[in-house]
Amino acid sequence: MTDVQELLLSRIRDVADYPEPGVMFKDITPLLADPAAFTALTDALAEIVVRTGATKVVGLEARGFILGAPVAVRAGVGFIPVRKAGKLPGATLSQTYDLEYGSAEIEVHAEDLSAADRVLVIDDVLATGGTAEASLQLIRRAGAQVAGLAVLMELGFLAGRARLEPALDGAPLEAL
Ligand code: PRP
Repeated sequence: MTDVQELLLSRIRDVADYPEPGVMFKDITPLLADPAAFTALTDALAEIVVRTGATKVVGLEARGFILGAPVAVRAGVGFIPVRKAGKLPGATLSQTYDLEYGSAEIEVHAEDLSAADRVLVIDDVLATGGTAEASLQLIRRAGAQVAGLAVLMELGFLAGRARLEPALDGAPLEAL
């Protein structure tokens, strides 16, 4: 493990039985409160923007906004929010996806993505991969290219990486 990885890991707090019994929640607020750790994370993600040739960052509500926005600024590219349904005022593209019980829906402003864009998706956690998969589908439906997906943490036991293979279609998945 690198020094940066050790720093990041040391600032993630495990919270047992949140938001429901049996779930170990990964709380990133200690990392956000530590300027050295937040800067190291921003730098590492911005390096992925540069390496993948991304021209835009898409952040996934809500923690993907906190991580993605400074990365876009650092890398000198635009930031596009993918929001939960009903929050964006303009014309949107929307994508539904299955949850363990029920379904969820995310949206992006249609005018924010075009064929000229190469998009890196940023989020805090990859769990089942449902949210990321839906976001990649949105990006492709908008006609944009997928540069990759970058997350702080990947919960490997939930096999999100395997689920995302078709949607990534060869684009990299980077978990710091
Ligand atoms: C969490 C997390 C990811 C997603 C990962 O967000 O920040 O976006 O779940 O889960 P998945 O891989 O199984 O889709 P959450 O839905 O809790 O939204 P929030 O950030 O708005 O609280």
